[in-house]
Amino acid sequence: MSNISEKSKKYNLHSWSAQKALKPAVITKAQGIFFWDEDGKKYYDMSAQLVNSNLGHGNKALIKAIKDQADRLPFIGPGYAIDVRSDAAEALIDFAGPAFRGGKVFFTNAGAEANENALKIAKQYTGRWKFLSMYNSYHGSSFGASELTGEPRRFAAEPGVPGFYHFDGPYPYRAPAQVTFKDEADQTKYYLDRLEESITREGSDLIAAVFVETVVGSNGVLAPPKDYLPGVKKLCEKYGILLVCDEVMAGFYRTGTKFAFQQFGVKPDIITFAKGSTCGYVPLGGAIVKKEIAKHFDDNKMWNGLTYSAHPMGCACCVAAIAEYERLDIANNVAKVGKVLSDELDKIEEKHRCVGEARRIGLFAQVELVKDRATKEPLSVPDAAKVVGLLKSKGFATYNNLNGIMIAPPLIITAKELREGLAILDEVLSEVDAW
Ligand SMILES: Cc1ncc(COP(=O)(O)O)c(C=O)c1O
Repeated sequence: MSNISEKSKKYNLHSWSAQKALKPAVITKAQGIFFWDEDGKKYYDMSAQLVNSNLGHGNKALIKAIKDQADRLPFIGPGYAIDVRSDAAEALIDFAGPAFRGGKVFFTNAGAEANENALKIAKQYTGRWKFLSMYNSYHGSSFGASELTGEPRRFAAEPGVPGFYHFDGPYPYRAPAQVTFKDEADQTKYYLDRLEESITREGSDLIAAVFVETVVGSNGVLAPPKDYLPGVKKLCEKYGILLVCDEVMAGFYRTGTKFAFQQFGVKPDIITFAKGSTCGYVPLGGAIVKKEIAKHFDDNKMWNGLTYSAHPMGCACCVAAIAEYERLDIANNVAKVGKVLSDELDKIEEKHRCVGEARRIGLFAQVELVKDRATKEPLSVPDAAKVVGLLKSKGFATYNNLNGIMIAPPLIITAKELREGLAILDEVLSEVDAW
């Protein structure tokens, strides 16, 4: 291990890990969809880091926006008006489309904080205190966002504060054995019934908001059946509950549209975002609220605040990123290269018996690995981590969550680069088949 790696182990606590066995690679350079370690080894960034480097590495416009802002005014408190602060909010309202006309943005530093603040906004607006979210979800690692999270990363925050309840969201591949679906309409009905059951059991008039990842990310890249989210919204309206779409991972063209909800015919009341808003060049997240919620705070004090809310560097970078998505016609690239990804994943699914399902939408995919296709027994988490290690050793950098391998490259990737990356995956999966 090099000095830098050893020093990192000595002083840094690395996320989600027992520290002793770690051997953090030392990265010295990154450009486009690639990065390089200190030995000169080149990696395809096949997860866009943590599904946030949507515009890839070394984007000149983003770097310039940050440098210019640092020269002009690197920081001024959130109570003051400055050009990039209002420009970023205006651009995001526009990005969110007609449903959010007249809405406003509360800026945070990242995704967990976006959800924390959405929780408090929903609580203040509705006067209610319970929240529902899916078991198959990740909403962040701060305390409230951890409790909102349904998967095991929530356990470290439990028993936590009261008010957080979970329900089964759409995941037909892992539906209970006794449940069979004729078609998508059947799936929609089954999962909407699960939600309504939870709403009534928890007391519909106590629930402030239902939080959904519009397309579930870390926990499987699970795009809902097309009528599911409109059905969720209908249930929310029936019981006076707000719908919050967590677009932290799915937003900013990852699934093909600006925000993912725009392709599911649903209008959330609040959107939470981060990641692709600045592509990681500097941190920024936030909550976009619809007009009625914004108006509520005209006369009611909003009890939310952060020293770094609407940080000038983040806002400048966000304005530049939104312009870059347009200039580079990212929507078109996701449509074009997303089709290549889908075609290649069809082949991978057919060829490799270790693949249970390879789910995909846009440039967002997860390969769910199984020991046995018939029983769907998941590959163990240590084995899935071993697969990620093998991929990395061959230059395909990504991560796993449980038995799912993430494939979510920067949205600037070309069809050729994607095919090269997937050839490595194909080779590694052949080894896994043999296990
Ligand atoms: C859907 C979703 N929400 C929230 C978060 C938390 O964001 P952050 O890590 O920026 O706090 C993540 C992070 O991966 C996420 O995928």
